[in-house]
Amino acid sequence: MSEAQHSFEFVLNVRTQYVGHVTFPCLPAAAGLYLLRLDEMFRLMGRALNSDERRQLAETLENHLRMGYARAGDANLRIDYEMHPDRSLKRNLAIRMTLSTPDLATQFKTWNSGDDDHPFGKHPDARVTAVVRALPVPTPVLEIGGGTGRNALPIARLGYPVDVVELTEEFSRAMTRRAEAERLPIRVRWGNALDESLELPVGHYGLMFASEVVSHFRFDGSLRRFLERGVRALRPGGLLLFNIFLPLPESEYVPDALARQISELSWSTLFSREDLELALRGLPLRWLSEETVCDYERQHLPPGAWPPTPWFEAWSRGISMFPRLDNPPVGFRWVLLERV
Ligand SMILES: C[S@@+](CC[C@H](N)C(=O)[O-])C[C@H]1O[C@@H](n2cnc3c(N)ncnc32)[C@H](O)[C@@H]1O
Repeated sequence: MSEAQHSFEFVLNVRTQYVGHVTFPCLPAAAGLYLLRLDEMFRLMGRALNSDERRQLAETLENHLRMGYARAGDANLRIDYEMHPDRSLKRNLAIRMTLSTPDLATQFKTWNSGDDDHPFGKHPDARVTAVVRALPVPTPVLEIGGGTGRNALPIARLGYPVDVVELTEEFSRAMTRRAEAERLPIRVRWGNALDESLELPVGHYGLMFASEVVSHFRFDGSLRRFLERGVRALRPGGLLLFNIFLPLPESEYVPDALARQISELSWSTLFSREDLELALRGLPLRWLSEETVCDYERQHLPPGAWPPTPWFEAWSRGISMFPRLDNPPVGFRWVLLERV
């Protein structure tokens, strides 16, 4: 390059500025992948990172991803950058990282916005209905995470008294309004069912169930706390029914850190068989049955009620986590246990 060209290039570099942002989901297991992408991006912009810069970026990136992930499984990291291609310029590269972590209840609130009164479907789950109907009226029932009452309202109409713990205030209010309008035996508690300070009757219920709720849990002991809640709340012989993403029984698939983090991000928290075994260890709960949610509901829901929502079938087959697989090695399973 001639000297003249060299100085023209410098003028252009001084006048050129790259400003923008990149957003990544806060998955610590993807830190290496993100670093490669950022490295490549800066290189293409003509300002390759040197090894010190790369090391520093890696460290800051990992710290932020860890912080964001600790707060929520679907937290985001926004990386703002301002860059001049010529590194001889003062302040030729500035990077700022910001975390955003909307909480679950807020996200559900916005999900429920508009005129959609039935965000999780209009009909009760066929599996829940079958288990309830086998119990004598008026066996007390406890529902965890009842949403807007898709299951609790029909159960109460059959004459069973239902207590519900629901995390999202708007859903609790919507369900209470509907129950009061029909004078149904439903008591709604707005709160976190995993919070041990939330008190419920002990040894009282003949059934505790949770539908599409364990799929929001984190890998922080939530599953164990949920099962312990069941043990405390149920009378001996009482049933505990929930659905959960698990590797299919015939598959040998064991989720690694990235798979687990992607499952949380996709609101499909995937527990390994070993996680479930450990969470159950030592608790007075007896395994009764396990079924594929998708197959069971498709076969047993009344005509026209399948699928419960447009997203349900793909989501329950694990497609949100494995969008490129026709047959993911995981699935949403109904699990039924008995308090002994
Ligand atoms: C996908 S929705 C399903 C709602 C309802 N079970 C249904 O199937 O229609 C998940 C619900 O669980 C609630 N939830 C999640 N974690 C909870 C917790 N720890 N305690 C109480 N409710 C919870 C959410 O607020 C939300 O209403």
